[in-house]
Amino acid sequence: MNARPRVLSLIQPTADSFHLGNLLGAVQYWPVLQESHECFYGVADLHALTVATEPEVVRQRTLVSYAQLMAAGVDPQRGAVFVQSHVPEHAELMWVLACMTGFGEAGRMTQFKDKSAKAGADSTNVGLFTYPVLMAADILIYGANAVPVGEDQRQHLELSRDLAQRFNKRYGRTLVVPEPHIMKNTAKINDLQEPNAKMSKSSPAGCVNLLDPLKTIEKRIKSAVTDSDTEIRFDPQRKPGVSNLISIIHGLTGQPIEEIVAGLQGQMYGELKKQAAAAVIAYAEPFQATVQSLLEDRAQLEQLMKDGAEKARQAAAATLDAVYDAIGFVRRAGR
Ligand code: TYM
Repeated sequence: MNARPRVLSLIQPTADSFHLGNLLGAVQYWPVLQESHECFYGVADLHALTVATEPEVVRQRTLVSYAQLMAAGVDPQRGAVFVQSHVPEHAELMWVLACMTGFGEAGRMTQFKDKSAKAGADSTNVGLFTYPVLMAADILIYGANAVPVGEDQRQHLELSRDLAQRFNKRYGRTLVVPEPHIMKNTAKINDLQEPNAKMSKSSPAGCVNLLDPLKTIEKRIKSAVTDSDTEIRFDPQRKPGVSNLISIIHGLTGQPIEEIVAGLQGQMYGELKKQAAAAVIAYAEPFQATVQSLLEDRAQLEQLMKDGAEKARQAAAATLDAVYDAIGFVRRAGR
């Protein structure tokens, strides 16, 4: 029995910087959960392989992602903070789960449908198809009770739950069925130019990266799309652009939405944007300095990754052994 409930979450190193959606939808909760949970956090480099990228870029982004987790307050001493490929048990469990996942079931994942439709069949790799199964393995290998992610990952989490239940039904109770941990007001931070779509690195003009020059951050927020009305109120359905900026202020300052709105009564949208830009810059400036100084000591960063992987592997190996036993594999020598 674990004394404290477990939490797992990963982030892909697919960009040179985390964006506001990553931070406010997920990463900002990670340090908080370290106070009450046994936490496993990491950089999903295996997942990042679904997009072909130059090896040096993959390496650099993995280091920068790890440093950003620390700059966001994640403490590698208070849990396991690791790189996914350093814990080979993820890929091993994935194979077992892949053999229990229906072809149609994987094909119904909306993220796969969207991405493969954009890329076309010839440019879509099998890794993209099995991506959610690897994600299920990430979660189930630690027996995670809760998974802090943004709204866009909900369907993948459902698959993890289904697979855990299916496994347990077939082989007896072995895997923990995880719950999502999705925060209401920041679960989806939207694109500043298309406020009905989620903020994503794939549309740079509407995306605010934490490591961008502060001037760029300010410019992006000031050119955010609002609406032709003039009233400042929180109504994500009818006023998506305005509500998104309010969510950003709320996510970064912790100030209740009603208070933010009340403070802006009678003001123009320019003032809302000014406050949003100020909140982002107040966060980004020290964040950038911390990331910079962490990257200057690569040896230390690599040592932290190594320690994190060791901690993670202990937990992961125990689950994998239980799974292999349950499915009838003959025990490996030394296990
Ligand atoms: P990734 O790397 O795309 O994003 C990392 C986290 O940021 C959240 N997020 C958002 N939240 C709110 N608004 C947005 N616009 C926004 N954009 C991204 C994501 O929901 C995520 O929590 N498949 C995952 C990585 C992963 C993972 C896992 C997560 C791999 N294995 C196991 C949890 C558990 C992904 O692509 O996240």
